[in-house]
Amino acid sequence: MDYTILLLVTFCIISKLACADLCELSALFANCSKRGLSEVPQNLPDYITNLKLSDNNITKIEPKAFKRYGKLVVLDLAHNKISILDSDAFMGLCELKVLSLTGNRLDHTKYPNNVFRPLKNIQELYLNRNMRRTPPSKQEQTCKYSDKAFSWMVNLNILSIDLCGSSDFGIGFLKLIHLQNLTFDYCLAYNLTKKTFSNFRNSNVTVLNLSRCELYEMSESIDAGILDPFSNVTSLDLSNSYFSLKHALKLLLPFRNKKMDMINFHHDRMAKR
Ligand SMILES: *[C@@H]1O[C@H](CO)[C@@H](O)[C@H](O)[C@H]1NC(C)=O
Ligand SMILES: *[C@@H]1O[C@H](CO)[C@@H](O)[C@H](O)[C@H]1NC(C)=O
Ligand SMILES: *[C@@H]1O[C@H](CO)[C@@H](O)[C@H](O)[C@H]1NC(C)=O
Ligand SMILES: *[C@@H]1O[C@H](CO)[C@@H](O)[C@H](O)[C@H]1NC(C)=O
Ligand SMILES: *[C@@H]1O[C@H](CO)[C@@H](O)[C@H](O)[C@H]1NC(C)=O
Ligand SMILES: *[C@@H]1O[C@H](CO)[C@@H](O)[C@H](O)[C@H]1NC(C)=O
Ligand SMILES: *[C@@H]1O[C@H](CO)[C@@H](O)[C@H](O)[C@H]1NC(C)=O
Repeated sequence: MDYTILLLVTFCIISKLACADLCELSALFANCSKRGLSEVPQNLPDYITNLKLSDNNITKIEPKAFKRYGKLVVLDLAHNKISILDSDAFMGLCELKVLSLTGNRLDHTKYPNNVFRPLKNIQELYLNRNMRRTPPSKQEQTCKYSDKAFSWMVNLNILSIDLCGSSDFGIGFLKLIHLQNLTFDYCLAYNLTKKTFSNFRNSNVTVLNLSRCELYEMSESIDAGILDPFSNVTSLDLSNSYFSLKHALKLLLPFRNKKMDMINFHHDRMAKR
């Protein structure tokens, strides 16, 4: 190993600082991906607009962790071990348009009410691959999303999140009037009713992804009108979800007489029954 790098690494370990000297800077982009960081570095230039902190060892976002980086437009925190977001975690990020928290350990029912409040301009939010609950029993509690936390992001276009066995999206989701692309990535849905998505009814979702809902075949209730709030959808991905024909036809009811660009029912393997 190069002697200076060895020295630097040793220094970083000894000083226990989040050693931003290891990040790669090019113009307004700081690449701190895969640096073994356990906290957000505080010694990067404050004018950067793009900060990549993916694949590190961050477990918690401390208050004001990004206050110094008020010019950020893109922040990538994917594939860390984040389970705690302080209420002031994103303070100062009023220019931010894209935030990825994919592949962490967040609980979508436990966001502090004001945590996303500073993100007045956010357009894309990736919270997928965080919450995978054990296969549900009928006793499992309904999962109540932190709708108040989401209600601040009125400019959101793209949301990627996980879907619990039995989900309750509260009235805060009514505020997401600009939502266009909605993906449920980990999909454990077994209880979809016409109430489930009803608070998305003010959004203008045109691309809906409900793929890999493998547990849905367990569902007993087959409400009509489950997808009614998504009547503007023109692209629907239901691939690898176990919907019976009866379910599928009911699901597609809101789209009769509509022009669809894509409906994907593809199965990688045969459904179990
Ligand atoms: C960022 O740094 C990581 C680790 O060195 C590297 O694998 C990746 O290609 C870099 N990404 C960009 C966009 O420069
Ligand atoms: C990640 O952090 C944990 C706890 O802070 C520590 O035990 C572990 O060694 C760290 N792993 C790496 C790869 O730095
Ligand atoms: C299914 O969801 C509805 C609300 O949408 C709820 O009232 C009901 O308790 C849920 N059933 C189960 C078995 O979780
Ligand atoms: C939504 O998704 C579609 C298909 O994946 C893509 O073409 C489109 O650009 C996305 N919309 C936005 C606002 O990014
Ligand atoms: C839907 O989501 C799955 C899983 O995240 C992904 O593989 C697939 O490409 C997505 N479909 C579309 C049309 O973007
Ligand atoms: C659905 O699309 C139509 C036509 O583009 C539009 O008039 C209507 O407002 C849209 N619905 C929502 C909830 O945005
Ligand atoms: C809803 O989205 C469609 C397709 O992107 C667009 O043509 C329409 O104007 C939008 N409607 C509203 C009310 O935003």
